Amino acid sequence: MNRDGDSGRRRKFFGQGLLWLALLASACSVAPERKSNDGGAASTDAQAAGVDDKLLNDDQNGDNWASYGRTFNEGHFSPLADINKGNVGKLGLAWFQDLDVLQRVDSQPLAYSGVIYTATGLSIVQAYDAATGKRLWRYDPDVAQAAGDKLRSVWGIRGLALWGNRVIFGTHDGRLISLDAGTGKPVWSTQALDPKDETAITGAPRVFNGKVLIGFGGADRSLVRGAVNCYDAATGKFLWRFYTVPGDPAKGFENEAMRKAAATWKGEWWKFGGGGTVWNAMTFDPEMNRVYIGTGNGSPWNAKIRSPGGGDNLYLASIIALDADTGDYIWHYQQNPAESWDYNAAMDIQLATLPINGQPRKVLMQAPKNGFFYVIDRETGKLLSAEKIGKVSWASRVDLKTGRPVENPGQRYESGSSLVWPGNFGAHGWQPMSYSPKTKLVYIPLINRSSRYSDAGIDRAKWKPHPHQWNAGLSAMDNDMPVREFFSALLAWDPAANKPVWKVPTPGIVNGGTMATGGDLVFQGHVDGTLNAYLDDSGRKVWSFNTGGAVLGAPISFRAKGRQYVSVMVGPVPAAAATISAEAGYAWPYRETPRRLLTFMLDGKARLPASPGSSFEKPLKVADFHVDPAIAKAGAVVYGVNCFTCHGPGAVSGGNAPDLRASPVVADGDSFAQVVRDGALVSSGMPRFEELTPGELEALRHYIRSRAEGAPPTASGAAGP
Ligand code: HEC
Repeated sequence: MNRDGDSGRRRKFFGQGLLWLALLASACSVAPERKSNDGGAASTDAQAAGVDDKLLNDDQNGDNWASYGRTFNEGHFSPLADINKGNVGKLGLAWFQDLDVLQRVDSQPLAYSGVIYTATGLSIVQAYDAATGKRLWRYDPDVAQAAGDKLRSVWGIRGLALWGNRVIFGTHDGRLISLDAGTGKPVWSTQALDPKDETAITGAPRVFNGKVLIGFGGADRSLVRGAVNCYDAATGKFLWRFYTVPGDPAKGFENEAMRKAAATWKGEWWKFGGGGTVWNAMTFDPEMNRVYIGTGNGSPWNAKIRSPGGGDNLYLASIIALDADTGDYIWHYQQNPAESWDYNAAMDIQLATLPINGQPRKVLMQAPKNGFFYVIDRETGKLLSAEKIGKVSWASRVDLKTGRPVENPGQRYESGSSLVWPGNFGAHGWQPMSYSPKTKLVYIPLINRSSRYSDAGIDRAKWKPHPHQWNAGLSAMDNDMPVREFFSALLAWDPAANKPVWKVPTPGIVNGGTMATGGDLVFQGHVDGTLNAYLDDSGRKVWSFNTGGAVLGAPISFRAKGRQYVSVMVGPVPAAAATISAEAGYAWPYRETPRRLLTFMLDGKARLPASPGSSFEKPLKVADFHVDPAIAKAGAVVYGVNCFTCHGPGAVSGGNAPDLRASPVVADGDSFAQVVRDGALVSSGMPRFEELTPGELEALRHYIRSRAEGAPPTASGAAGP
């Protein structure tokens, strides 16, 4: 349980300005030494039969949490009630483990047969004895080395899957890997994505009927055509693929669904990829032997560039039902025709049987980015209801007859810029909502934040995507926003009556996924470092624990050796959320913040070491660096194109990567070039930018130093060229 002393060591090297190579040696010594398996086989509870369809379909038995949403309905609900509203006050820490990774740890663990499995950061997978916290094995697929230029958009992994006696997970460089759950040794690995394009696996695979389904992200960057891929879970053999947007008509369409979709696009859309990636939501429906996938935004975001002259652009921002055996199209429902705001239907899709007008209806439910809560008949794809869960400006309502939104004028940046609610982080992000079959309520981590979009000054006819850059097709974004109106909340929503039941304020703007339990509780982690429990019927907070890191992954609950536990991962805020966490005043320093797996039980008495807590890093004073404002201005553009995703807008980091205003590396031109141009820190997740010229490197340093000295941030929004 020792806290990794490495980060402290490295800071000292910086502080003393010691030889840069010494720093690198210290940085490199950590990962390889711990990469090997630790030996011991997993000490599972007796007679574990392995994860199968029956287990993943069993909503009554809460012993395991063996799939991302626990069971096929993706409800994030544990029926266990040993920990309940009567005794939650006695919930305490059973044990904790330092996760021994550098990047994001907002992923969700799984628990099966007394073992917890985690995938964090650059897909480092580890197994722990659930009762004692002892690490059983660790597997590092060496993503940083394999990823090449894909590392420039690194997001990190959000989850993994179990099937039989295997652990199955994806990597940023596009591999799908199966490990022996007992030893952590690889069984098969398949390259699911083109290693050279901008796509990346970030979500958890779903396994059903012996098949693994996996999607990918990357449509905010260039030339990405969305799809899901299905493989044999035992062998990794490819079975089927469903594209979500049509390709080049000259090459022929893969199926009738693509032919129909192509009629809704104009111009030469395939040259932009189109988008529609399935980077998160994939739900298997055992009753109908179907999968429902949620598709992403357009690529580029700006529909006027992507499809000049209009069109709905199917199947962007849609839920699509597919045959689980063949991947054949069954039905679709599009939430945002001609998607233009980075909205998508990628948020988790839950299955339930709800009493609607007195009749039980088999439905699917989703709270996508666009701010409406959708209830859809999953047999037919017919929209049953769509009501606003937060502030929504782009549409007044959704017409239930046609299923189409009634859009408000002025929201498609028709003339200059548009302030749009919700913004591109959505009213709900990928952080899962949960559904309690006891209360019949859905618990949503709600975001209330706008975005400003503008394509003024862009010559749409000549616009081209740039490799390795943000390709929104906008000229400006998020300038002059009503930041004071931003907030977040935990919202309990009644999906049968289409109305809110209770809502409690939460800190910051992006918070963790939720878990509902049979103990009449809802658990949620927050960006301020707390894990909290609320009464599921009133929202009254009844328990809170200070974890020492942001809690943005969803908690799980399970039994091991007869006892109920709750586990969650904590650490710094991931890249995307870091931007708006910093906006809300929460930053978790990259090097100081612990990355941990915490496990709670009734009467748990373990204690955490003191954590530095949430804070912004202090800009470094450098006496002999003289900022030239003109050079800094040029550097702002280079920074906005290449660096802001990880190091934060305006060079203020939320903690996903070091705050460059505090970095001594920036003060020294040679060290800076070694890191940024030559890739000295690639193995730790800092990509190589070999194409940057000496002038651009210099401009970057001037910009970062100007920010350290308090100059206003310029030109660092997400829009890109
Ligand atoms: C995909 C995410 C990502 C992007 C994009 C990125 N960085 Fe980094 N950067 C990192 C991470 C992670 C580290 C810390 C690595 C480690 O643990 O040592 C880092 C470290 C650094 C450091 C060393 C800081 C220190 O004090 O240790 C510098 C300098 C740096 N980056 C500059 C840049 C610049 C300039 C750009 C844009 C040209 C950029 N980075 C783009 C992720 C990124």
